Amino acid sequence: MSADGRPALAFGGDYNPEQWPEAMWAEDVALMREAGVNLVSVAIFSWALLEPAEGRYEFGWLDRVLELLHSNGIRVDLANASASPPPWFSHRYPQSLPVTAEGVRLSYGSRQAFCPSSPDYRRAAGALTRALAERYGQHPAVLMWHVHNEYGCHNAHCYCDVSAVAFRDWLRQRYSTLDELNDAWGTAFWSQRYSDWNQILPPRRSGTWVNPTQQLDFWRFSSDELLECFKAEAAILRAHSDRPVTTNFMSFFKPLDYFQWARELDLVSNDHYLIVDDPDPAEELSMAADLMRGLAGGSPWLLMEHSTSAVNWQPRNRAKAPGEMTRNSLQHIARGSDGALFFQWRASAAGAEKYHSALVPHAGRDSRRWAEVLELGGVLARLGELAGSVVEPAEVAILHDWQSRWAAELDSHPSVDLSPMAGARQLYSALWRSGVRCDFTHPRADFSGYRVLLAPHLYLLSAEHARALTAFVEAGGTVLVTYFSGIVDERDHLHLGGYPGALRELLGIRMEEFYPLLAGESAPLTEYGSGAIWSELGRTEGAEQLAGYAEGPVAGSPAITRHSVGAGQAWYLGTTLSDDHLGDLLSEILAQAGVRALLPGLPPGVEVVVRRAATGARFTFVLNHTGEPVSVELDGTELVTGEEASRALLVPAGAVRVVRGG
Ligand code: GAL
Repeated sequence: MSADGRPALAFGGDYNPEQWPEAMWAEDVALMREAGVNLVSVAIFSWALLEPAEGRYEFGWLDRVLELLHSNGIRVDLANASASPPPWFSHRYPQSLPVTAEGVRLSYGSRQAFCPSSPDYRRAAGALTRALAERYGQHPAVLMWHVHNEYGCHNAHCYCDVSAVAFRDWLRQRYSTLDELNDAWGTAFWSQRYSDWNQILPPRRSGTWVNPTQQLDFWRFSSDELLECFKAEAAILRAHSDRPVTTNFMSFFKPLDYFQWARELDLVSNDHYLIVDDPDPAEELSMAADLMRGLAGGSPWLLMEHSTSAVNWQPRNRAKAPGEMTRNSLQHIARGSDGALFFQWRASAAGAEKYHSALVPHAGRDSRRWAEVLELGGVLARLGELAGSVVEPAEVAILHDWQSRWAAELDSHPSVDLSPMAGARQLYSALWRSGVRCDFTHPRADFSGYRVLLAPHLYLLSAEHARALTAFVEAGGTVLVTYFSGIVDERDHLHLGGYPGALRELLGIRMEEFYPLLAGESAPLTEYGSGAIWSELGRTEGAEQLAGYAEGPVAGSPAITRHSVGAGQAWYLGTTLSDDHLGDLLSEILAQAGVRALLPGLPPGVEVVVRRAATGARFTFVLNHTGEPVSVELDGTELVTGEEASRALLVPAGAVRVVRGG
């Protein structure tokens, strides 16, 4: 919503006026107006300036910044500045600095240099938050609150003594007795039995593999511990302000269980940066955006940060091609973001991120970047009516569970090549290429709106979640499970009796032993080419075998199966197929489940997504990621160019079109 009350997509980014002389602020704001910027995030890294000495606050400069922005109609996403404790704090409270698994205490001098359990950090961050909330809670410029910044980016796990105490408290909540903990952790193995709570430590570096359930619980604890920091600061803000509270996520960032976090946010927001050497950066962008929509429960979310051009933190940081910035922004918006914000407003002249792009580049206004920023501002203004609309529900969902991923990636497993994220990406990629959109959802979610669920390497699965999947299939749903799923329960204990224990009956198969393939090795199949990474010995028990291993130690064992259960189908894929063969298999599964692309027949790399407004208006996005123009059958008003579209809408190479139709 813009300052004048009309629906608007957010456009702007992190504004760090403290990096520049105050005399430049008026020029900043004039440029923001020229570009159509309507939302900026302020004070994210301003702790040292806001509180130059313990308990001494200096808000004058921030008062002036907010006033200037407000009088120019620019709304503020105000940070509580807890992300980077100043040197005076770390110097005075050295015990607050985080410690690695090897016992190395990290120094300050970068950012996020604190232990999430540190009472000193929590007290100081809370006091600063309270002071800001009291002063600005009702400020007319403040549209929303930005708590911290990218929680856990640099300090997700701390192994210090303070963390050890907090870990024990957390464990006492989870396991009421030490016997229960000993059972859960399987401490009968290797003489690890604990006889006193005080003996328990974070999984610090040891001679060899530390107890896996201890490791898994530590990942859970660490995510919860930072979430406690967020909740405490958010509660202070909510006590003084009626504005929504968010914190910026980092897509599939491993250490935080965002499905738990998302419940605590008033608005889901995300930071996304393209990885230059990703095989298909646009596809990866869509995957992250689809995850955000899942975390937001289908509601609009906000792209808090992306880059106008190059970043500074990859091995080789390449500037974006003409049109790429706008296409990236609209791609996030197509998939549910109510705007496009950037890190950062003006490119820094000093500091660790001085080679990071910004809306105002080092070259200033006389630059291609600034011209594109103006162009993007214009496009977003024309798309304002999209704000608040929702992406039409998908028929397919990929199940994603952070805790399962943590467990799957622990050490001493059958193969180092197995990666739940790679498995999810390969399935996502096949869907993306076939024009079928999907959501990401959690195994405990309500599946009733979906026709097809995909479960890539869902290693950890409770009996309860396995039952929910079975009920989904019995009621007519289709599920595809890939190998190393349903293997352990929430304590990381095997479901015994043959693999994949929790899903054996649903899938109608029974596996006995794993035969992971060596690097570069492949296992010829009777159908669908050959497998990589994994093979296994076993048999069907009720399922139909669609492909088996053609030779080698597991010859004859099933690799691809289908099992009819109730009114639905449970498919199993026991190896990694080539992208093409996986595409073929998925097409078959989708066809049988009655799932089709929204606009069939478009070439791979042309995305179509529909957002629907409460009024019923449909906005069809066509994003052409290919190097060739494409013609699409659509009627309505095209909002990017303002032209009427009739039947054959031409979308130039690299362009995006948004058609408003009935
Ligand atoms: C984000 C962070 C920003 C900035 C940006 C650079 O991770 O939130 O503060 O560092 O990356 O790409």
